[in-house]
Amino acid sequence: MPDVNQGTAPDWTRYADGALVETFADATLLAAARTPFVDLNGSLAQVSPTDLGIHAAKAALARSGIDPARLGATVAGNCIQASYDTLFYARHIGLYAGMKDDRPAHGVQRLCTTGFEAIAQGARMTSAGQVEAALCVGTESMSRAPIVAYAHRGGFALGQVEFKDALWEGLFDSGCGTAMGGTAENLARLHTVTREETDAYAAASFARALEAQAAGRFAEEIAPVVDTVFEGPGLKPRKLKLPRGAKGEVAQDSHVRPTPIEVLAKLNPVFGGVQTGGNSSAIVDGAAAVVLTTGKVAAAGAAGGAPPLGRIVAASVAGVPAEVMGIGPVPAAVALLRKLGLTVADIDLWEINEAFGAQAESVRRALGVSHDRFNVNGGAIAFGHPLAATGVRCVLSVMMELKRRGKKRGIAGACAGGGQGMAVLVEVD
Ligand SMILES: CC(C)(COP(=O)(O)OP(=O)(O)OC[C@H]1O[C@@H](n2cnc3c(N)ncnc32)[C@H](O)[C@@H]1OP(=O)(O)O)[C@@H](O)C(=O)NCCC(=O)NCCS
Repeated sequence: MPDVNQGTAPDWTRYADGALVETFADATLLAAARTPFVDLNGSLAQVSPTDLGIHAAKAALARSGIDPARLGATVAGNCIQASYDTLFYARHIGLYAGMKDDRPAHGVQRLCTTGFEAIAQGARMTSAGQVEAALCVGTESMSRAPIVAYAHRGGFALGQVEFKDALWEGLFDSGCGTAMGGTAENLARLHTVTREETDAYAAASFARALEAQAAGRFAEEIAPVVDTVFEGPGLKPRKLKLPRGAKGEVAQDSHVRPTPIEVLAKLNPVFGGVQTGGNSSAIVDGAAAVVLTTGKVAAAGAAGGAPPLGRIVAASVAGVPAEVMGIGPVPAAVALLRKLGLTVADIDLWEINEAFGAQAESVRRALGVSHDRFNVNGGAIAFGHPLAATGVRCVLSVMMELKRRGKKRGIAGACAGGGQGMAVLVEVD
């Protein structure tokens, strides 16, 4: 761990040496969809992560035009078990989305990079010719994070009752003894990112997201959530019921709002430095899904489906010191570029999760990416970071934006608590 008080960032690229990089010969992203991302205790607060995932999966499949019976597997990601039946979530998402019951499903968890991991595993399956199509999903209900006790099955010793908030505890790395926000403070010191610069980064994220929302770009990603019942052969119906205030439909990210730097400047630090509730990723509920397939299936075209979004070319995962976990996307991206013989300049757009303002700005600086290629529609500071859904959201957002701009190559990435980073290279035609 570098001396954070020294104020000099080390050469993070040396962490690329230990990265695992994988290229995918045959992974076409046919279609994608996500739920709106809604603030903690908002209108999605009582929807289980399984139902959020089913909703996103069904929407992605409908957009793809592919018959769900052709799915060879479901790979779903989730971090916080937030309903009594969450243990079954991956299988339930696959089956209620229409996958046949003789096809497998499994769950993955790599903290905030979980969604990338789900996509990488699906891309591996299509590339190996194991499946015609794979459903890859990330889903998270942060509102339903439980209040937990782990030691009471045998009863309660006098005065020894302990229940804790799994959400708050989950954002603290007990290994290095640092909250996720504290790791961003370490990066702020190493990269000399001031409070003003962190707020300026956040204000730009809000402004870009506000503009993207008004222009309808997020609406292209979002499948509005409505009251519904999910059914399937031999399956008990699952009801998705929105609260009365939602008026039967949730269609927009709720955290996006006008946020000038003057407003951000007034907020109190939460982790003793530059990070506040306004320049950190918002805590939201949401899910995202993609359908991957082979080039052959994509070329044949699916009935009623939109043209494919592009290809998942490669993925990498790197380890970094836990105290500076937020820098993870840097060595992950460097490892990808090295493997493919590319440079930062070859990448048209970057979609890097904004866990915290100082973290995202440190990543941008360390990679040497200009603002105009980095999170061009804003990021998680503005619309939220539903942990396991984020990787899938980043991939679908960067591909849709590349397509809009007629550009070719993008990298989506995120850091993960405990000290990791993932990056995924995509290409559109
Ligand atoms: C930083 C964090 C602890 C703040 O939580 P919080 O205090 O519950 O946040 P709030 O939403 O209540 O915001 C705090 C204050 O900022 C204000 N605020 C937040 N965003 C704002 C905005 N865009 N405009 C104006 N005010 C804003 C709130 O109104 C609130 O003000 P108040 O104290 O007067 O009510 C929390 O957002 C967090 O932990 N985020 C990161 C999550 C994370 O670690 N994810 C994993 C990454 S690895």
